[in-house]
Amino acid sequence: MNKPSSFQVIEQGGGLASLSHAFLELAENHYPDFYDSLNYTIVELGDDLIPLQQNRLRDYNSKVKWINGSAYESSFGSIEGLIISNELPDAFPVERCTKIESKIKQKYVAIEDNMWVEVWDTPDDEVLKYIGDFNISIEEGVEEPINLHALRWMKSLGVALNKGGILTFDYGKKADVGHWNRPAVQFYGKSDERRAANAKDDDLFAAYRYPGNVDITALINFSPLETIASELGFDSVFTGYQKDILLNIGIAQLLKDKVDSFHRFTSWQEVTELEKSLQGYEDIMYLAGHYFAQFLIKDIPTSVIQWEQPDKDYRLILPKVPIQIDGLYEEVLVDMKKIKKWENHLDLKFPLQNGILMLFPDQIVGSLIYSPDGKNLLLDLSKPDIAKSAIESAGYQYSSEA
Ligand SMILES: C[S@@+](CC[C@H](N)C(=O)[O-])C[C@H]1O[C@@H](n2cnc3c(N)ncnc32)[C@H](O)[C@@H]1O
Repeated sequence: MNKPSSFQVIEQGGGLASLSHAFLELAENHYPDFYDSLNYTIVELGDDLIPLQQNRLRDYNSKVKWINGSAYESSFGSIEGLIISNELPDAFPVERCTKIESKIKQKYVAIEDNMWVEVWDTPDDEVLKYIGDFNISIEEGVEEPINLHALRWMKSLGVALNKGGILTFDYGKKADVGHWNRPAVQFYGKSDERRAANAKDDDLFAAYRYPGNVDITALINFSPLETIASELGFDSVFTGYQKDILLNIGIAQLLKDKVDSFHRFTSWQEVTELEKSLQGYEDIMYLAGHYFAQFLIKDIPTSVIQWEQPDKDYRLILPKVPIQIDGLYEEVLVDMKKIKKWENHLDLKFPLQNGILMLFPDQIVGSLIYSPDGKNLLLDLSKPDIAKSAIESAGYQYSSEA
């Protein structure tokens, strides 16, 4: 885009500011010219999330501004830059359709005997138009989510963006999604929210009983979004698995470099930072599942996107470290997920105090590993005998006292 003096990034649905923080940190540390011209706007519907986002982004105060409103109702004037979202349109309210006795039906809610009930009835015109326009197949026994707001949202973005890209990460497919998503909407969210709502994932009525207290989601059909964007002059550079977009931009090499760097680490902090940077990697790369991404561009040549030849060898080869147990050397996999669980306790245990390794049996689970500097030892105390002999054979004194 010829290095504009001001580059706008608009993120809709800021969550706990993980994406924005990572974006700003990366720009600041690795692309200083880009960072200088960067203006970041977060569009957030949840009033109480904005102060949390502001706190998380306090180091980037001068770079970020907020708009409190709904992504599919906000208007921005005209934009040059990037509109980005991660897990946004799946949170929009959807209509739900199915076929009953060869007729398309839409789900409505009503009140009977003072209770919410759901009823299937004739679809409204906008829903039928969507189904017809985008050739959505509605089948007996399958509930298809119809995300009219996502369409509205993409239309408004398509009109607002003069030049640049729309990058969307969310759960879905480039097709009807009902087959993968029974029922059409599901509940997720923090377990305490669910507990408060006393809701199980399949208890769809929880949302009626505890409005605002359950996290409702529906898979996205990215195909209508691509069609509408194309009508508005966008090219689709990519619509597919997140896994593939990551491979296209060289994640395999990045990963190899990171894992290689493990052997040069000298502190637990570096190990936990590596673990953090790999979080979610396994799910996205191996399961692939519904992790989808879409990148639409307008008025910029597709050649500005520099794809690399994807490296097919992207399996995460975790570092192995040698460990001695009762005189036998074993290769032990460093399990990043388990390190995560220990993270809160690392300060208590390291460095060694007076030659005694302080371990807290009730807090530690996991396998045997050495620290990268080869001196410290972290152990699975669900197997105290092995722990004791491994500690002693490493020349440390075993103590089960905190
Ligand atoms: C899963 S979080 C996003 C996480 C964040 N993008 C990240 O990657 O760190 C979803 C966010 O979308 C927001 N949201 C949901 N519906 C919205 C809407 N209609 N307009 C704007 N934000 C919305 C929620 O309040 C929440 O902040």
